[in-house]
Order: sequence, then C-alpha cells, then structure tokens
Amino acid sequence: MRQKIVAGNWKMNKTFEQAEDLVSEIANKIDDNEPDCEVIVCTPAVFLEMASDYADESQIRTAAQNVSEYERGAYTGEISAEMLASMEVGFCLVGHSERRKYFGETDEVLAVKTERLLENGIIPIFCIGEVLEEREAVKHFEVIENQLNKGLFNLNKEEFSNIVLAYEPVWAIGTGKTASPEQAQEIHSFIRKLIEKKYDAETADNTTILYGGSCNPQNAKELFANADVDGGLIGGASLKADDFVKIIQSF
Ligand code: 13P
Repeated sequence: MRQKIVAGNWKMNKTFEQAEDLVSEIANKIDDNEPDCEVIVCTPAVFLEMASDYADESQIRTAAQNVSEYERGAYTGEISAEMLASMEVGFCLVGHSERRKYFGETDEVLAVKTERLLENGIIPIFCIGEVLEEREAVKHFEVIENQLNKGLFNLNKEEFSNIVLAYEPVWAIGTGKTASPEQAQEIHSFIRKLIEKKYDAETADNTTILYGGSCNPQNAKELFANADVDGGLIGGASLKADDFVKIIQSF
C-alpha cells in the first residue's frame, strides 16, 4: 500500500548513549505533534533492540541497514532476516549505494537479500540510483531500469506489493547537491511507468517511492510536493532530531 514515509538512515554513526538520546528525542517530538507520515529510523544493528523498545511506545518504526543473504549457519558476523524479524524490525534497507560500492553487493545478491526479507515478513526499502558519470552520459534511465530488472522484477506481483523503493542518485548522497524537484519527479514517474509495464497500473500506483540524497529541512517540502515522491530517505539530516523532525513536518 502506498504510504508517506520519512526514514532516517543513520549509517555508521552514534554511540549507544547518543543513539538512545536521538531516538528518544525524535519519539518525544513526534508524539507531541502527530506526523502525517510513517517515521522510520534505520539504526545500526546493535541499536535496533533499544530503538524497538521506543518503537513499542511511540509512532517510530525501526529498520535495519543490512541483512545477510544466507538463512542461518556458519557465516560469522552476519545477521539474518529471521533474527531481525524476531526483534520485530519492520523494514530493512537493501542495495544502498554504499553497500554496492564498498561491499561489492551485486544486483543478484540484492535480489536474494530481498527474498530473505520477504520470507520473514520484513519490508525491504530497496535503493536504486545512478552515479554522476552515468547521469552526465544520460544513462540514468537505463541504469535504473537495469537495477530494477535484476534486483526486483523477478518478484511476482504479490511479493512486489511489499517493496518500498528509494531513488537515491549517488551524486546527491552526502554532497549537498540535491536533485531538483523536477529531476526527482522525472525519475520517480519513470520508475512508476516501469512498474506498470512489468506488473500493472494498480501495482505502480500503490508503490511507495522515496527520494534520498542531501534532503534537508530547507528542500524537503518542495521535493515531497511532487506527485510521485512519497517521502524521503534521509542521511546526514537524520542525525539531528530537530532537522529530522522538520523534514517529517514537511508533509
Ligand atoms: P544524505 O542525506 O546524507 O545525502 O544521505 C542520503 C542517504 O544515503 C540516505 O540513505
């Protein structure tokens, strides 16, 4: 079901104490002021239990930043979808560009991770986006189409209805260079058309597509005002409760 969502991707930031301060501050602020969207915090895995405790008492939902492609067993250091589900984690990022770039995650591995999450009732927030050279060479449409074909379009319609998408142009991540509202809308509507072509109009219309990349309290309103932008996946600005809550209030 299409939803408005603002999700904060904390990446590899905060100590336990800082993480608890941040999540409790966000919880207090949004509980005082009913948000018009789902609010998700994608914390480092070691903080998920703490964040889930706050989620039980507030409107915050929790997401993991990564999951293993393996089900269970001798995979030292890995965290399975089953483990996340047992901690009542509702969402998990898949295919963030940093995982693709620094950890060599291929579309094929991401497709398996997505399956593991769906088997365990966790909603994947599947990230796609082009790098600067691809945009400059006007290859961004092709890149996005390939990422969807290889990573997600092997799912049947029912499985796909549990996916949240995040368009994150890599050149906009952590750079302060946001996609313009027109650029974001252009790609989001292109993504929706691809979903319609693969599945049908109803599935396309029901898919939540978030924008990510230097989204902040100043530009969020304009970005979220686009017909095909259903919210944001926020990096840097999600690490300060005030900024994150201002973004949430942009709806
Ligand atoms: P920034 O908001 O810091 O650009 O990061 C975006 C992002 O990568 C969210 O997943």
